[in-house]
Amino acid sequence: MRKHIVAGNWKMNNDLAQTETLISELKKQIKTSDAEVMIAPSFTNLWHTFEATRNDDIEVVAQNMHFAENGAYTGEVSASMLKSVGIQTVILGHSERRAYYNETDESLAKKVDAALAHDMRIIFCFGEELADRKAGNEESVVESQIKNALFHLEALTFKNIVLAYEPVWAIGTGETASPEQAQDMHAFIRKTLESKYGNVVADDMTILYGGSVKPANAKEIFGKPDVDGGLIGGAALKAEDFYAIVNAF
Ligand code: G3P
Repeated sequence: MRKHIVAGNWKMNNDLAQTETLISELKKQIKTSDAEVMIAPSFTNLWHTFEATRNDDIEVVAQNMHFAENGAYTGEVSASMLKSVGIQTVILGHSERRAYYNETDESLAKKVDAALAHDMRIIFCFGEELADRKAGNEESVVESQIKNALFHLEALTFKNIVLAYEPVWAIGTGETASPEQAQDMHAFIRKTLESKYGNVVADDMTILYGGSVKPANAKEIFGKPDVDGGLIGGAALKAEDFYAIVNAF
């Protein structure tokens, strides 16, 4: 079912002490909201954050995972390890992982399959570079990222998938996509899903926008018909800003 979701991607920020401080500040901000709230700390803080927010309306999610069950993958973390510390949802395909760690549509398809095999929910990220948009290729880039990593799946599995459109040129730059740009791309994404899987999957799909979402712009972006929430980076590291975005619905 389509939901309102606001997920905070902490990226490589916050040691244990800083995590504890941010959690206690977040707890002061919690109030009933129309949006599902998620936070994604680093691996080292997952268990502590899960334990510390167990009774709060906050889901703790992972920023990544490996596709293998286990084995000689130094530094990596598997789906079953994440589930063993209470994690049910994982972010996959973030542009920073595509850029810095050579994650490809093909390797991401394997991670998607592994997460689904463990009945995990996936926040699947994709988005065009500035050069793609300047060349007018943003739709074809997004379409191929989605098709190459997800279109081998059966329709039913999409109930475990949340899509996150994050134009790379808007991430961490303060250059937020306009609400109209976000709406146009989200509508295109829904149409792309419908073409393969029909309108039930397309209409039920939660599509988040990510890329310089702030308290000042969240309401307008979230007010667009095909925008169901946000994947938040910088603003997720300040409890007040993060909940100002959560409460923008
Ligand atoms: O995953 C969300 C992130 O990439 C967006 O970052 O700092 O532009 O909100 P930011």
